[in-house]
Amino acid sequence: MNINSMVYAQSYLDSSVSVDERVEDLLSRMTLEEKVGQMTQLNITMVNHEGVQRDVSLDPEKARYLLQNHHIGSFLNGEAVPPEQWLEYINELQSIAVEETRLGIPIIYGIDHMHGASYLEGSTIFPHNINLGATFNIEHARQTGKITALESGPLGHFWNFAPVLDLAKNPYWPRFYETFGEDPHLLSEMGRSYVKGFQGDHDLFPYKLAATGKHFIGYSVPRSGWDRTPVDLSMQTIHEFHRPPFQAAIDAGMKTIMVNSGEVNGIPAHASKELLTGLLRDKMGFEGVIVTDWADIGKLYNFHKTARDYDEATLQAIEAGIDMSMTPTSLRFNESLLNLVENGSVTEERLDESVRRILKLKFELGLFEHPYPSGQGIDEIGSNDRKDIALKAAQESMVLLKNSENILPLSKSIEKLLVVGPSAESKRNLAGGWTLAWQGAAEENYPESMKTITEALRNELPNAEIISMESIGKKYSKTRREFNEVAESADAIIIAAGEEPYTEFVGNITDLSLPEDQLEMIRAVNGTGKPSVLVLVAGRPRVINEVVPDTDSIIWAGLPGFEGAEAIAHVISGKINPSGKLPFSYPQFVGHFIPYNHKPSAAYYFDDTVANDIVVDVEATQMWEFGFGLSYTRFNYENLELSSTELKENDRITAKISVTNAGDIVGTESVLWFLTDEVGRISRPVKELVHFERVTLEPGETAELTFTIEPEIHLSYPGFDGESILEEGYFTIQVGEKKSRFYLEK
Ligand code: BGC
Repeated sequence: MNINSMVYAQSYLDSSVSVDERVEDLLSRMTLEEKVGQMTQLNITMVNHEGVQRDVSLDPEKARYLLQNHHIGSFLNGEAVPPEQWLEYINELQSIAVEETRLGIPIIYGIDHMHGASYLEGSTIFPHNINLGATFNIEHARQTGKITALESGPLGHFWNFAPVLDLAKNPYWPRFYETFGEDPHLLSEMGRSYVKGFQGDHDLFPYKLAATGKHFIGYSVPRSGWDRTPVDLSMQTIHEFHRPPFQAAIDAGMKTIMVNSGEVNGIPAHASKELLTGLLRDKMGFEGVIVTDWADIGKLYNFHKTARDYDEATLQAIEAGIDMSMTPTSLRFNESLLNLVENGSVTEERLDESVRRILKLKFELGLFEHPYPSGQGIDEIGSNDRKDIALKAAQESMVLLKNSENILPLSKSIEKLLVVGPSAESKRNLAGGWTLAWQGAAEENYPESMKTITEALRNELPNAEIISMESIGKKYSKTRREFNEVAESADAIIIAAGEEPYTEFVGNITDLSLPEDQLEMIRAVNGTGKPSVLVLVAGRPRVINEVVPDTDSIIWAGLPGFEGAEAIAHVISGKINPSGKLPFSYPQFVGHFIPYNHKPSAAYYFDDTVANDIVVDVEATQMWEFGFGLSYTRFNYENLELSSTELKENDRITAKISVTNAGDIVGTESVLWFLTDEVGRISRPVKELVHFERVTLEPGETAELTFTIEPEIHLSYPGFDGESILEEGYFTIQVGEKKSRFYLEK
């Protein structure tokens, strides 16, 4: 007999009743063990046959045991398998939860689809977030969210652990590429857009999906640059720089948040009531589900050592405010939480608060009415239309950093092109970590339809002979000789350099320089005197200052995804005119990096070549500044005008600028507006991005763009308690090289 039919009279199963009533009804029927189970998330390895991530197949006995005896509410992850396999697995798992447990509560399945449905074979793979940031086009974040939803939602992936809303401030940090960049405003716009695209209504399934903002908060700025290492951060800095992207996503309805695995100011975020309850719940108004990161309750005692044992660790996390534990490979959390309730350390009411949020999420997503994957639209996964959208994002993310004597685009008459470097023939390097598998997959697992840079160049320049040579340099003396021979007859040389895929701490490094063998290769290329094009395929800005002067042109390609090689080839051939701008400051030195929006005193250094004086010059520490990016055309900024140079607290003023395409080909410019608060009681950033807009202009065409300044939104800043401070004084608005000053009177 179907267990559901026995309880049908119960109002939690009646969709005409309000969500709150359904939650209360269900909660009132749950045992303590069932509540603890809802607060637990287990990994796929606990319910599959082989106990490894890539085995997406259900062992029903294992699932039955966990669902019937431990009432587990959520499962996660796997690796890229065909959609049919995902469907079968989720269907079977869900059917045990719904049909074979006492209350029939559906599970919510969570997964890391980080740039497209990245744990699905055949899916559309977008550029990583750092590239989306470079487009300064929020439409690409929306489309990434939407297409990820369309390709994974029908498979029962109800919950996606994206977007990452951390700030890319330390270039050593191996998760740099998962972020949209270093600027809070850019991140807020991108994150909000992703959430709307992902969580919005989709026709292919009757249920809804949940996005996750991660990792709350301050995760990305460890002193050493290594993943999950300590962070010291003032609350004011948290409010001003780290909070806004999370706040914007929360205000856009983002349903869940994942916690930072590291410690902030001496307290692991998972044990921080100040951050999870004081800040996230009370100040930021987040009402959704807070999930831990991987095994992070256990880590309070075996990694951070803030707890003596698992029970104490669980107590700390529960008191801090977590709702669900991604335990995820044992039942230790369940055991500890039960102990804590039984010995009176945690009240059942406290559990009810979290279980309410989890059940509410499941009701709001419609899982009680539609627990099974819809399976719709599988034929559309990875369709050409969607690939075109991913290609457009990749194209707009290419940043042209240098182009001496307009070497690029390469002349159509080129006859012989040599392509060297570790990314010349690599697909996996273009897509980076979190693709097909956690650390990226073996080269042969990438789709045949995907192109390498060499293949894409062959398509793009059909009349040229294209020779590729992966590695040259000291380590490869044999190929170095071959290289010299081929280079001799080449018209130009492309160097595809950078990094191999890595994810999280696996990507920790101790030296930010591009590895020596690659620098050696670039020197060898530059030594030939042939036109050289350096293409950087990497998840973070590796330092290359010593080779910059001799390299003719440089393209930052980041991690552009499955369509990335074509985007790169299109820039090289001139099929597209590059329009990307750096969403981060590209450092010049391995041991010195300051963000573009640094404090006034941050760029002081002693320079004995300049009259033994102290110099303030941020460009001296950065190779390329945030927002830098060249085009094959030129844009002139003229006539910056303000509607008034004085305003009061409740006034608004409008700034106007004319942008002209002064070259002779069509081009797109991201127009970035910055504000400077000239004096502040809490020292103010030298400038801050407040608005951005893309404009496409024909040769000779001019666009007039405006931006309205509203004091409370654009001129205030948060104090140590997060409350807004608005001070009288001068401000400067800057767009392009144009600046204008105005006065705020209070
Ligand atoms: C990562 C998260 C991810 C989780 C689940 C963790 O190691 O920090 O970003 O969502 O694993 O795979």
